[in-house]
Amino acid sequence: MLNFISAENVSRQELENLFSIADDIKENRQKYSKALNGYVIATIFFEPSTRTRLSFESAILRLGAGLISTENALENASAKKGESLEDTIKIIQGYADMIIIRHHENDSSQRAVKVAKVPIINAGAGGGEHPTQALLDVYTIREQKGKVDGTQIAIMGDLKYGRTAHSLIKLLSLYDNIKIYGFSVKGLELPLQYKEFLKEKHIEYIERSSLDEIPSDIDFIYQTRVQMERLEDKGLKIEPIILNKENFARFSNHTYILHPLPRVDEISTELDDDYRSLYFHQAHNGVPTRMALIYSLMRDYYNLNPKI
Ligand code: NCD
Repeated sequence: MLNFISAENVSRQELENLFSIADDIKENRQKYSKALNGYVIATIFFEPSTRTRLSFESAILRLGAGLISTENALENASAKKGESLEDTIKIIQGYADMIIIRHHENDSSQRAVKVAKVPIINAGAGGGEHPTQALLDVYTIREQKGKVDGTQIAIMGDLKYGRTAHSLIKLLSLYDNIKIYGFSVKGLELPLQYKEFLKEKHIEYIERSSLDEIPSDIDFIYQTRVQMERLEDKGLKIEPIILNKENFARFSNHTYILHPLPRVDEISTELDDDYRSLYFHQAHNGVPTRMALIYSLMRDYYNLNPKI
C-alpha cells in the first residue's frame, strides 16, 4: 500500500496488518517514538476538523516525525488566491514526505495521487469517503467484539452524504457474515452505488424506517450527524433520528453505540455514561490506528528498516 485514499482498495490482510501494528502501538508506544525521525509530514485541511486533524497530528508527533500544517486551507492557503489542488500538492511535496489531505471535493484524493510523488492519505473527501475514520471504526468493532466476522450493525442518520458510513460499509465488506441495517433520515438514504457495491459483495443490507425495526440484540448502532453543510436540497425537511435513554432501553446489554462525532443532538448526552456508549473511546482509537497507517505507508514507501 503506497497511499490510503479509499476503503475500496484495501485487502483484509492489509487491514489486519494495520490493526496488529495499532495493537502493538497501544502496548509499546515508546518503541515507535523515533520511528520517523528526520521525516516531515504535512496536513492540509480545506474543511473543518477537530478529531481527524488533531489525532493525525498527534500520531505524526508520536512517531517522531516533524509536522507542517494548514488548518483552514480554503481561507489561509493559496487556494484562496485561485491555486489548483494539483499545484498545491506539487508544491507541498517539496516540503513534506507525506501529505494528509481533507478537501470538499469527492475526488480530491484521487486527483492528489495523480500528481503526487509522496504518499497521500485521504482525511475526508466531500460527501464521498473518509477511509481512516472507517479504519478506527472497524478497529473499535474488532476490539469490542473480539472479531469483525459476523458483525450485525445498524448504520443510521445521514447515509447519503455521510462519508464515514460509505467507507465503513466498504471496509466491513472485507469480512464474513456481515449484516447491515440502514435506517436513514428521510431523503438521505444510502446512494445506489453503495447498495450495488454491497450486493456485489454479497453483504446483506436491510433498509428500515424506524428504530423499532432494528433487532434489539444487534451488536452495534452506528449513529451519524446530518451533514447540513452538504445538503443539495436546502428545502428538505429533516426529521432527525435521536437515540436516547428511552428508545435505547430495549437494546441488549451487548449492543454498543458508535458515532464518528461530532455529535449535534442525535445521541442524547444522558447516554454518555452508559458502558455501551463507545464513541469517545472510538475517537481515541484514532491515534494508534493513524500511527499504524502512517508508519506502515512510510516504511513501505521509503524502505525503512522493518525492525522496530
Ligand atoms: C466526520 C467527517 O468529517 O466526515 N467527522 C470525523 O472525521 N470524525 C463526521 C461528521 O463530520 O459528521
